[in-house]
Amino acid sequence: MNYNKKSIEDIEVAGKRVLCRCDFNVPTKGGKITSDKRIVAALPTIKYLVDQGAKVILCSHMGKPKGEWKPELSLKIVADRLSELLGKEVIMASDVAGEDSKAKAAALKNGDVMLLENTRYIKGETKNDPELSKALADLADVFVNDAFGTAHRAHSSTAGVADYLPAVCGYLVEKEVSIMGKALANPERPFVAILGGAKVSDKLNVINNLLEKVDTLIIGGGMAYTFLAAKGYGVGTSLLDAEKIDYCKEMMAKAEAKGVNLLLPIDTVVASEFPNPIDGEVSVETVASDAIPADKMGLDIGEKTRALFADAAKNAKTVVWNGPMGVFENPTLAKGTIAVAQALADSDAVTIVGGGDSAAACEQLGFANEITHISTGGGASLEFLEGLELPGIACLQDK
Ligand code: 3PG
Repeated sequence: MNYNKKSIEDIEVAGKRVLCRCDFNVPTKGGKITSDKRIVAALPTIKYLVDQGAKVILCSHMGKPKGEWKPELSLKIVADRLSELLGKEVIMASDVAGEDSKAKAAALKNGDVMLLENTRYIKGETKNDPELSKALADLADVFVNDAFGTAHRAHSSTAGVADYLPAVCGYLVEKEVSIMGKALANPERPFVAILGGAKVSDKLNVINNLLEKVDTLIIGGGMAYTFLAAKGYGVGTSLLDAEKIDYCKEMMAKAEAKGVNLLLPIDTVVASEFPNPIDGEVSVETVASDAIPADKMGLDIGEKTRALFADAAKNAKTVVWNGPMGVFENPTLAKGTIAVAQALADSDAVTIVGGGDSAAACEQLGFANEITHISTGGGASLEFLEGLELPGIACLQDK
């Protein structure tokens, strides 16, 4: 896929109505935003548009209201936070591309910023309905996609709208694509990828694609147990994707054929049962990966594995990490994930954390500033690592 797309600097925006898709799908609790990272990440583009004198019409989804007008998923809290961050009013529309949006968009002055309501309040959004795409496009003269986190969705506000307007990317999409694109296409070597998370089946194509590119592939987290089973080890009551054992065998053979160093846990932290509550007390012991007792489940990588993985990361020139090494929500079982985050922070390599739980872990642990790039995309960064075409980027004008 061609990632050499036109950006906001390649198009005239002064005095124009610019519809800018952001990913304002921020986590909330009790009606309050718990991380404004995605709003902060959109600021460079919004500020540029304001400074250029564009009439800025922002849009985003939040959650999955599935066409229902759920008040708890209103973007009003985002408008309030954005207004604080920009130091200026953000005009909130009460609909998506309806009468209120049209009236407010028509009344905008140069440099004004408005925000539409949650695009997924409209059923057509996730169906990429041309009628909604056209209604969104009718509000503006130019479309800017700065929603990397939603770039893997072919929805009206992420892709369909580009059928009706000149479409370019914003600074966030440009940054995500250039850093991750370069890492995958032309990495400084040794190139190490670290994959974790619960299920092998969530990362089948990522493993396959990365084996074409990396020097070392590290597998930890819940998905490692299916690989250990594929090696013929007993994994006790650990998470196992039994149907994927053959696939893991295939991937191990592929790694060998390609000369890729495939690292699996050599020891593992086990317990009798999954902690309940997840962050509750749990009694653990560490065993070798080929000696997991039949009545125990692996819940984190052991100390020797932590050192092995950290060593590989420290000696790399490019490291991509996606997925925790264990049940990191539990302090006793977070040590593997912390060790990997620490190793990335200590490494001189270009370090890229692909969204989701591993991004949250780096932020919570205070390592965010030591990492070259933490993606704002969860699913989007995974699809990027799979080498898939992202519809929200494919729809933009080529340079
Ligand atoms: C995300 O949180 O990964 C993006 O905002 C996409 O959200 P979605 O998975 O609901 O499409």
